[in-house]
Amino acid sequence: MNKIRVNLKEHSYDILIGTDILAELGGIVEANNWGKEIFLITDPLVNDLYGDRVRKGFKGKLTLIETRRGENHKTLSEAARVFDLLVRHGAHRDSLIVALGGGVVGDLAGFVAANYMRGIPYIQVPTTLLAQVDAAIGGKTAVNHPKGKNLIGAFYQPWLVFIDVKTLTSLPARELRTGLAEIVKYGMIKDAGFFKFLEENAHHLNTKAFEKEDTLRAALKLWQTIVAESAKIKAEVVEKDEKEAKLRMILNFGHTFGHAIESLTHYRSYNHGEAVAIGMVAAALVAQKIGILEPNVTARLSRLLDKLGLPSEIKNFQVARLMAGINIDKKVLGGKVNFVLPEKLGKVVIRDNVPAQAVKKVLIELGAK
Ligand SMILES: NC(=O)c1ccc[n+]([C@@H]2O[C@H](COP(=O)([O-])OP(=O)(O)OC[C@H]3O[C@@H](n4cnc5c(N)ncnc54)[C@H](O)[C@@H]3O)[C@@H](O)[C@H]2O)c1
Repeated sequence: MNKIRVNLKEHSYDILIGTDILAELGGIVEANNWGKEIFLITDPLVNDLYGDRVRKGFKGKLTLIETRRGENHKTLSEAARVFDLLVRHGAHRDSLIVALGGGVVGDLAGFVAANYMRGIPYIQVPTTLLAQVDAAIGGKTAVNHPKGKNLIGAFYQPWLVFIDVKTLTSLPARELRTGLAEIVKYGMIKDAGFFKFLEENAHHLNTKAFEKEDTLRAALKLWQTIVAESAKIKAEVVEKDEKEAKLRMILNFGHTFGHAIESLTHYRSYNHGEAVAIGMVAAALVAQKIGILEPNVTARLSRLLDKLGLPSEIKNFQVARLMAGINIDKKVLGGKVNFVLPEKLGKVVIRDNVPAQAVKKVLIELGAK
């Protein structure tokens, strides 16, 4: 098992990463005496897949709360339904929430934990790649508002993040790829060596490797390494800037363009990782245009994304709508758009003075009309 400590003073916690370890969670929770009553919050699909394995590890009782599946249910009303169930079951300040699932379950259960009785402990057990390398780490919890994603939420750190990479084996290929975009992002923003490692292993990073018994073991070992490295990078950034005053913004590399693409297509045509993949290439091209990045880095980035099955072009988009989308992005501080731009592999800078003309040119280069 890999162990990464997230140092946040009194809110410090461990991230544990292993293979086929779900049944070990109960022993850890009980040995630490965390939670008089334990509430397992998960969605029906993940409960069917992994609920029993988690339950098996607990000697005591686990109360199941199932949330409705999917982004559309990451809402205040779904949170209210969970609050009601917690009240009905007599949850107290010394109860513990175990959030088992993707980023939707993690964000919602974290939001509930942050607010129920002014905050009760919770553990993240992420089961999608995106949640394992990103959503479950760092304590951002939220629900959506009809006017925007994640508008209602709080920073609230879990007591433990417990990652079993074997859960990746049941993910659809597209869900695996969406997490891969965030992993590539970590290489770009912080670790050139990790980026190179991803280039060398890209052909193994797909669901095919899970299909045969003889490739499964090696694949899981590789995923454990990659998830641990990604978690380490995210943890380092969060440690230095828990509440996104400045440094944590580098995690938004690719997201300024990505969010515009997602919202213009109503979160339907592109999933998050696909939009971020295009956004990273756009940011790299902008960096090239303003003369801070060598073209060969952009070429390597596009090649890697392509090998991983992620897109890097924006077809059927109108430049004007994309420009408007970028300007309303929440990364706008003091009226200026903050772009996270690569300077070289493994290093990004934040710039708020990028000429609109450079952005426009890049969007056209990428295929927008
Ligand atoms: N808090 C943060 O810092 C942060 C960061 C990034 C993203 N997010 C949030 O994360 C959410 C997206 O998370 P996601 O991509 O995990 O999507 P998701 O939670 O909707 O999960 C995707 C689908 O996969 C299913 N699933 C989960 N685990 C599975 C498994 N092991 N096998 C098969 N199916 C499985 C789920 O039931 C769901 O239908 C968004 O709401 C986003 O805002 C939060």
